[in-house]
Amino acid sequence: MSAFPTVRPRRLRTTPTLRRMVSETSLSATNFIYPLFVVHGRDVREEITSMPDVFHLSIDQVTREVGELSELNIPAVILFGLPARKDPIGEENFAEDGIVQQAIRAIKQANPDMLVITDVCLCEYTDHGHCGLVRGGHILNDETLDILQRVAVSHAQAGADVVAPSGMMDGMVKAIRTGLDTNGYTGVSILSYSVKYASSFYGPFREAAQSTPMFGDRRTHQMNPANAREALREAHLDVEEGADMVMVKPALPYLDVIYRLRESVDLPIAAYNVSGEYSMVKAAAANGWLDERKVVLETLTGIRRAGADLILTYHAKAAARWLKEEQHP
Ligand code: PBG
Repeated sequence: MSAFPTVRPRRLRTTPTLRRMVSETSLSATNFIYPLFVVHGRDVREEITSMPDVFHLSIDQVTREVGELSELNIPAVILFGLPARKDPIGEENFAEDGIVQQAIRAIKQANPDMLVITDVCLCEYTDHGHCGLVRGGHILNDETLDILQRVAVSHAQAGADVVAPSGMMDGMVKAIRTGLDTNGYTGVSILSYSVKYASSFYGPFREAAQSTPMFGDRRTHQMNPANAREALREAHLDVEEGADMVMVKPALPYLDVIYRLRESVDLPIAAYNVSGEYSMVKAAAANGWLDERKVVLETLTGIRRAGADLILTYHAKAAARWLKEEQHP
């Protein structure tokens, strides 16, 4: 015997009020982390070709941007720096007056409540573009940890709230936790890019961050897109090493991975809706093929539904505006 016509799921979809009341997933600007690309100079606000509405910003522009973000109720930024020059180890990465260190201080001065997260990796700073030190064509692991430790400590010194190692080196979380703690920064959190795939969706970011490797690729440290059990292993290792939050990256081809992590890790989970995912939507919208507003809100809701607490996304500002409009139409 069929439940129909007694049971009718459409009843709960009758009115906007009912639909809102029984919605299983919420999306709010509070969940967003907005990525910023910081460059040297003054009055620089240069659009990144493959990422419409995303800019290279000098520090004066960054502080202006942060004011706008607070008005939109976006609570956090993640900083990526473009150094004045690159070298084999990436000296500016841990310099007191490095571009990111300067940006942290400026943001905190202008807006102490803005949560400042920093990306901790070598690739934007090294002349070879790799995420670790290189010898004989190989990316070294343990030697790289010392640098990551120095970078994280220098970010903490400048006032960062959270450091986010993204280089997929084994032991990076433990090395950074130890470095922070022995220098008195026990209160600085670690958001680990625990599950970062060797993805082709980072293309536009590498243009923006000028971090394309000069030779080879990142497949000896970033994960194989075919693997999900290994994602749990990576996440659990980071939990043991002292991570406060874990990340899955990219988001959209890996919603199952976010879900699996949600089922087995207690920590907050962040998902990185990466540059290529952003550019695809912007390109389709520019052609009139997709409704940008609807697609973005649906996408971000999907990432939340899969189990992400936080979303790093270049759509943050537009989405926050749309969400505001929905509340006060
Ligand atoms: C590495 C890093 C990358 C991204 C964030 N941190 C690129 C990479 O691994 O090559 C990608 C972010 C994006 O595509 O939006 N520091």
